[in-house]
Order: sequence, then C-alpha cells, then structure tokens
Amino acid sequence: AATRTFSIIKPDATRRNLTGAVTKMLEEAGLRVVASKRVLLSKEQAEGFYAVHKERPFFNDLVSFMTSGPVVVQVLEGENAVQRNRDIMGATNPANADAGTIRKELAESIEANSVHGSDSEENAAIEIAYFFKPEEIVG
Ligand code: CMP
Repeated sequence: AATRTFSIIKPDATRRNLTGAVTKMLEEAGLRVVASKRVLLSKEQAEGFYAVHKERPFFNDLVSFMTSGPVVVQVLEGENAVQRNRDIMGATNPANADAGTIRKELAESIEANSVHGSDSEENAAIEIAYFFKPEEIVG
C-alpha cells in the first residue's frame, strides 16, 4: 500500500531555482507530491524540527543555513515512500552519494545538501504533523 514521507527542499536548492528539478527527480522515482508549501523557517521552527541534533557540533550552523532562505516542505506518497525517498536522495554527504541521486547531482556540501527526508515511518508522521494539517494533504 502507498505510504507517506516528509521532504524539505533546502535553501541551497531554492536559491539556485532547483525546486522543479528536485521535484522532477522525486516524481521520476515514483513519489507523488500530495502537499507542498514554500516557507521561510523561523529560528524556533528550525530548532524544533532538528531538536534531535541539538547536541551535535553542526547544530547552530544547520539552523542558520535552514533559515537562510526559503524552503519547500512537502508530503510525498508512494509505495515504500520513506525508503524510496532515501534512495533517490542519496547519502547525506554528496561526496558519498551514488550517481543519479539528488544529492550527487545537485547538492553543494554535507550541510547544503539540497534535501531532507524522513528516516522512518514514525518520524515521517511526526515531521508531517509539524508542518501540515490533515486537510492540507490531498492524496
Ligand atoms: P538532514 O537529513 O536534513 O539532517 C540533518 C542535517 O544536518 C543534514 O541533513 C545536513 O544538512 C546537516 N549536517 C551538517 N553537517 C553534518 C554532519 N557532519 N553530519 C550529518 N549532518 C550534517
């Protein structure tokens, strides 16, 4: 059955006008955009979203980067959506990502890595609820 995951097109990608290019790769990987909005995250929103990384050395830089420009938050639907999205995104560090993945083809660095995707169905549900009301998701 189709499941859902949560995606963010990050500021490095929106800055380079790659929203469509990223979305095309998601769609070609078999994912369907069932909710989407372009937003400028507040510091509080970014800190809350990445709370799990609070103690990491890169946390402050990550929050600065994620609030440096618009992002596009999306809900993606498809068979095995979480894994499917992780496969098309590629490794966190674009230097380690496989050819043909979003991060290999488009990302700039481990921080400016163009996309975020949920790492589990449990986190997908939490992350979707962080940005979308149920009625904003139209499958
Ligand atoms: P994301 O999947 O959004 O989850 C956490 C983000 O922190 C990650 O993608 C990167 O953009 C960023 N980041 C910056 N430095 C690192 C690092 N050394 N290891 C992991 N993530 C990092």
